[in-house]
Amino acid sequence: MPVTVRVRAERASGEKRVAASPESVKKLVTAGAAVEIEAGAGEASLISDAAYRAAGAAIVPPGTAVASGVLLHVRPLTVDDVEALPSGAITVGMLDPFQNAAGVEAARDRGVTTFALDLLPRISRAQSMDVLSSQALLAGYRLVTLAADAFGRMFGMTMTAAGTLAPARVLVLGAGVAGLQAIATAKRLGGIVSANDVRAASADEVRSVGGTFIDLDLGTADAAGGYAKELAEDRARRQQELLAPHIAASDIVITTAAVPGRAAPRLVTAAMIAGMKPGSVLVDLAAETGGNIEGSVAGERRRVAVEGGAVTLIGARDIQSDLAPDASKLYAMNCANFTALLLKEGETVLDFDDELVAGSAITHDGRIVSERVAAALAPSTMVEESA
Ligand SMILES: NC(=O)c1ccc[n+]([C@@H]2O[C@H](COP(=O)([O-])OP(=O)(O)OC[C@H]3O[C@@H](n4cnc5c(N)ncnc54)[C@H](O)[C@@H]3O)[C@@H](O)[C@H]2O)c1
Repeated sequence: MPVTVRVRAERASGEKRVAASPESVKKLVTAGAAVEIEAGAGEASLISDAAYRAAGAAIVPPGTAVASGVLLHVRPLTVDDVEALPSGAITVGMLDPFQNAAGVEAARDRGVTTFALDLLPRISRAQSMDVLSSQALLAGYRLVTLAADAFGRMFGMTMTAAGTLAPARVLVLGAGVAGLQAIATAKRLGGIVSANDVRAASADEVRSVGGTFIDLDLGTADAAGGYAKELAEDRARRQQELLAPHIAASDIVITTAAVPGRAAPRLVTAAMIAGMKPGSVLVDLAAETGGNIEGSVAGERRRVAVEGGAVTLIGARDIQSDLAPDASKLYAMNCANFTALLLKEGETVLDFDDELVAGSAITHDGRIVSERVAAALAPSTMVEESA
């Protein structure tokens, strides 16, 4: 019997993505799996049940019990999601394990094996499975289109017989995958784009996509795995002070700064916003994780008064879902490429000697097997035990 790979219709409101595409179904079928997709799962990503069927999937009614095998998902699993799975099931998707203690502990207790693609080691072999990159890339693009929509002026310099329109000055703070895509997109629209980041490699990366790197002479802050380290309080304050004149001179500020496992660094304060020109726009990708910009609220677009008028402050939420067909296409292939690692001749074979399998496994055999996650969740477990 080939292993069954089930793809669910996402339950979270506002979530339009799906973890399978016709191309990913073909890949899974070629790897020996029988693919089942809940009816209508691809609708918001413009993928019909007929297209899935033509690729080799069976369509099942939403909520049909998962018998065994592998579940592919987009949103982190909740306790209810886990409790609907049989013991021994395997799940592949984003798990947000550091913020989702309840889901992780439920999976452990249920004997479900969970793979968190958001914790996959970002080595070269993982590139085709890297959901953080595929989704951040779309987020970076969307941040700019949100800003352009709110800006109400053109980005590019335009000369006409009736006069010249000045180009928009765009500042991008945090130049990881999303930030670099934001720089490239704003540049393509004709903006004058500058950026700042704290990793040593970021100056060259910013220049490679056409941005001007703002060197604040703060020193670099690199951590393992290509990520940034949190800045100590005095350096973080100095960074804000040095950024203030750049923010005041910008028409558009886009923030994407993050430090894994920490709240997003605060880069823009209310006082800095107060110094901006009326009509300016700020968009904060980190609004859901603490906010790079003071006052940003995920999913809200607010007017903030400044001298002579107001600026628009947008807190991003679910913005990959705004581009669901593209986001699903990339996410689905990320999932299929990873799942193919778990399949040998149509059966699941979990090779924990493989760095990618071991590095993304969170729960297995009734235990939390990720040391990082176990360590991070330990205090909450202790609190529960002593309560
Ligand atoms: N497979 C691969 O090899 C692979 C794939 C994707 C990304 N990467 C690398 O992973 C790294 C992280 O990328 P990401 O987009 O996931 O990062 P991320 O989402 O963790 O953070 C976004 C950006 O915020 C920056 N940042 C953190 N604190 C800051 C501060 N105080 N001020 C300004 N910027 C700040 C980070 O340096 C990072 O560039 C990058 O080096 C990227 O090149 C590698």
